[in-house]
Amino acid sequence: MIFGVTGDLSRKKLMPAVYDLANRGLLPPGFSLIGFARREWQDEDFAQEVYEAVKEHARTPFREEVWQQLNQGMRFVQGDFDDDDAFETLKKTITELDQAQGTGGNFAFYLSVPPKFFPKVVQQLKKHGLAEKEGSWRRAVIEKPFGHDLASAKELNQVVHEVFPSNEVFRIDHYLGKETVQNILALRFANTLFEPIWNRSYVDHVQITMAEDIGIGGRAGYYDGIGAARDVIQNHLLQLLALTAMEEPASFDADALAAEKVKVLGAVRLPADLGETTVRGQYAAGWQGGEKAVGYLQEEGIDPSSKTDTYAAIKLGIDNRRWAGVPFYLRTGKRLGRRVTEIAVVFQRAPHSPFDHTATEELGQNALVIRVQPDEGVTLRFGSKVPGTSMEVRDVSMDFAYGESFTESSPEAYERLILDVLLGDSNLFPRVEEVELSWKILDPIEAFWEKNGKPAQYASGTWGPIEADEMLARDGRSWRRP
Ligand code: BG6
Repeated sequence: MIFGVTGDLSRKKLMPAVYDLANRGLLPPGFSLIGFARREWQDEDFAQEVYEAVKEHARTPFREEVWQQLNQGMRFVQGDFDDDDAFETLKKTITELDQAQGTGGNFAFYLSVPPKFFPKVVQQLKKHGLAEKEGSWRRAVIEKPFGHDLASAKELNQVVHEVFPSNEVFRIDHYLGKETVQNILALRFANTLFEPIWNRSYVDHVQITMAEDIGIGGRAGYYDGIGAARDVIQNHLLQLLALTAMEEPASFDADALAAEKVKVLGAVRLPADLGETTVRGQYAAGWQGGEKAVGYLQEEGIDPSSKTDTYAAIKLGIDNRRWAGVPFYLRTGKRLGRRVTEIAVVFQRAPHSPFDHTATEELGQNALVIRVQPDEGVTLRFGSKVPGTSMEVRDVSMDFAYGESFTESSPEAYERLILDVLLGDSNLFPRVEEVELSWKILDPIEAFWEKNGKPAQYASGTWGPIEADEMLARDGRSWRRP
């Protein structure tokens, strides 16, 4: 059951994911889908919305019989979150569906609504006796942003946990549903090759980049006042950092994974001088993909004096034996050169080179690059002799590409995550401690930015503000151009 079913996320991701799961035969026959929203819709309007969403965004081909089967169990409930009658109707609908479809009384409540509504919705579920049922499960699925700082996240957690026990709360971070993100652990722990050098003795630094070419689109209401760091560093990028830096879990189970992620996030240390080690930016007008793009302050719905960051770069340290002294540089931005997410583990230079210095000075550092998207795979960069009579060495790369190595198709992140919710498998969902630790890392940075000046401007279509290049240059390093 989805609250906020008329929203963008629901149309683009949730409803197509449900259809794809049905199409792959991964949903039980009794599966039902209830939408809840304010709009004056009937069941038919809801069905039409799902149909269009599926036609437009589903990954798997449209099959009439799958659609018909799904359609049988679809209902719409109209109302406000503080409307008791609507929640009574919801209760009645759930009971009817139980009998008609055989849901076994098991329901996942997906809160695809702004966080300010979380408390109301969960309280209403409790008040109307929907949050638990003897012999069945009732789960809460919560979309980000989970609060806007540590204090608000704690408050939200408290409200949610008053109603749902912690093992029935699933916080979505859709990056964890991505195939390439799950592969970080396979790459590290299913092989012998990388782990011996995955530490301060060999790694010079790590760069985690999440670049987007899009602007804020129609999301001004959500984005302004939130900004890039809260929108994606607090969750997606710190999760990528945790998976890259954590110790091997005792097993691939939710508790063991969470324990290691919590340990490493707890060891993250901010540098003392945030003015030198963090940069925030805001996109100005420019050219993107051959088209003129307006600046952030000119976007519809944005306060022209907004100081919201659309770009953020930060440097973090990890205080443990494996990573002491190795900087982790995280950056993200909208309206950058192109859409790409990658984790680059950059190795130290060879301590000595017997080759002619003038021939090898262009040589970069060895790097292992996990290409999260869109060109999913892994690249290993290293120096190789250039064919010819002199001993010239040049960088080359060895590539693994999903498309070439596998014939299996990757499920969309939301497909995997929704299925896991239904199965009660919480491996790919951040725990409350992870969410809180991530805010603890970000809060001082946001507070520093709040007090100090404005975001630096960068032209749309470039790789972000010059200040971010200067930040790495101070460390004698530079950002990769993916
Ligand atoms: C969301 C952010 O979590 O991730 C968006 O709120 C961002 O601002 C999106 O565009 C990017 O997701 P993906 O899967 O396209 O990298």
